[in-house]
Amino acid sequence: MTNRATFARSESNDPHSTTELWNQQAERWIAWAKDDSYFYEYNWPSFARILPDELGACLDLGCGEGRTTEALDALASQVIGLEPSMTLATATKHRSLSVVRGVGDALPFVSQSFDTVVAFMVLHDLEQMATTCAEVSRVLRPYGVFCFAIIHPLSSARELFESLVDRSYWDTWHYTDHAVRGDLTMDFHSIHRPLEDYFAALNEAGMIVERLSEVRPDPSYVARNPDARDIGRLPIYMHVRARVTGSQREASSTRPS
Ligand SMILES: C[S@@+](CC[C@H](N)C(=O)[O-])C[C@H]1O[C@@H](n2cnc3c(N)ncnc32)[C@H](O)[C@@H]1O
Repeated sequence: MTNRATFARSESNDPHSTTELWNQQAERWIAWAKDDSYFYEYNWPSFARILPDELGACLDLGCGEGRTTEALDALASQVIGLEPSMTLATATKHRSLSVVRGVGDALPFVSQSFDTVVAFMVLHDLEQMATTCAEVSRVLRPYGVFCFAIIHPLSSARELFESLVDRSYWDTWHYTDHAVRGDLTMDFHSIHRPLEDYFAALNEAGMIVERLSEVRPDPSYVARNPDARDIGRLPIYMHVRARVTGSQREASSTRPS
């Protein structure tokens, strides 16, 4: 059994952008990501099942220290990571993987560069989520695929069930999950927004959803991890596969590249 992690959540009013907040704890993320059972035993294996059979040229948007880029590298003909944090981009490079620095809402690539874009546990961290979806659509080739994993909005709103926050599900707010695992601590800076905001952003960007998974943990994973009992009852993660439609290609051809 892997190390047990505990999480304490609070609403956040930090004036820094979530991108800057992630950058501030890049070193802590590198340490945390190494032995992350949620990733290796549960979230990534489920996510891998919604990926298309052929990834072709693939962009890993928000690649962190490169664990997702490395996993995609084994599946794609070509993969490149995109990461704003210098520290995290350097860690990805040290795995002998291609990486460029940049942000999702201003992708440093010409239009129609990729067959697949992956954003694993990134979109719910971004203030510019809708612009990022538009940028993803721009850099995808005709009928290209966008696969992403986020915290399920039911999970980011779970404090509402106990009236611990003075909010409604349809509001958008920043929150921080303070996590502890052994000697390691990590602050996950994220944004709750309703499910319909993600679908509206995809729709605006000319993409349609073709797969949706409200990730169910494998019962054997729950049995091996006593702290995982709750994730057997409510989904924590949501995995989506969307595809650029033909109509988007016509619309995008009138946009500057
Ligand atoms: C939860 S981590 C996920 C990293 C990686 N995908 C993984 O699962 O190991 C979120 C990542 O998004 C990056 N990020 C933050 N703001 C971003 C932005 N505006 N555009 C792209 N990535 C961003 C962070 O630096 C961080 O590496």
